[in-house]
Amino acid sequence: MPRDRRDYFYKKAKDEGYRSRAAFKLKQINEKFNIIKKGDTVVDLGAAPGGWLQIAKEISGGKIVGVDILPIEKIEGVETIKGDIRLDVTVEKIKEKTRKEGVDTVICDAAPNLTGNWSYDHARSIDLAASALECAKKILKPGGGFAVKVFQGDLFPDFLDKVRQGFVKVKAFSPKASRKQSAEIYVIGRELLTGAVRINEEYNVTIEDTGASGDGIAKINDFVVFVKGAKKGEKLNIRIRHVKPNFAFGDRIE
Ligand SMILES: C[S@@+](CC[C@H](N)C(=O)[O-])C[C@H]1O[C@@H](n2cnc3c(N)ncnc32)[C@H](O)[C@@H]1O
Repeated sequence: MPRDRRDYFYKKAKDEGYRSRAAFKLKQINEKFNIIKKGDTVVDLGAAPGGWLQIAKEISGGKIVGVDILPIEKIEGVETIKGDIRLDVTVEKIKEKTRKEGVDTVICDAAPNLTGNWSYDHARSIDLAASALECAKKILKPGGGFAVKVFQGDLFPDFLDKVRQGFVKVKAFSPKASRKQSAEIYVIGRELLTGAVRINEEYNVTIEDTGASGDGIAKINDFVVFVKGAKKGEKLNIRIRHVKPNFAFGDRIE
């Protein structure tokens, strides 16, 4: 008997009318991180056969768009695109479909066809996840959320760093519905950063104003940075300590 047939989540998915056991992974990710909220527009990359799309539709009830190189059988209230998530032409098609609402959350469970050669499969999984990250950065609204599957391996820490550069809060998570022996892990990014500045970068700034709390206010490409104890008119070097979607905090450096 194939392993899936004996599997608890396989049976549960069948009983509850979900197209994949993976559906429960998204449920568990969302229970913990709340990346999909009521009314959200959600884009699902690598969505066939559609278990995640069913869950996203249930949670949000808003606009849901699924993308896959394989056809996705119709789900009521869900739009689909047949395309490769690594290609710009696919990103453009997603933008066309979501232009009016903007995208709140991008989720990606895409996986390459496994060859059994571990480092090769790992590298292709990272490549897909990196494409999903690039796509997410192009289509998400400021402050939007992201969840992506990766097979763990040597390239994972670098990938995690890339996600950290793009989101305020980043966590790696293994849902219970993932098989124990699986090397897959999900990276969750919350609050997409769209500002020009990044943590630990240094800038020379002029304090243009004083905020309500008494902090100095500098602007870097129109992005507001609060600098504790700095006075209006001061020119100083700062290091970015904390970044939020619409502003950042910097510390004076000598
Ligand atoms: C594990 S399945 C997704 C299962 C889905 N989350 C569900 O719950 O039904 C991975 C999917 O990624 C898709 N995929 C792999 N590479 C892709 C690519 N470059 N572009 C789009 N889809 C891709 C595969 O065709 C496959 O359908």
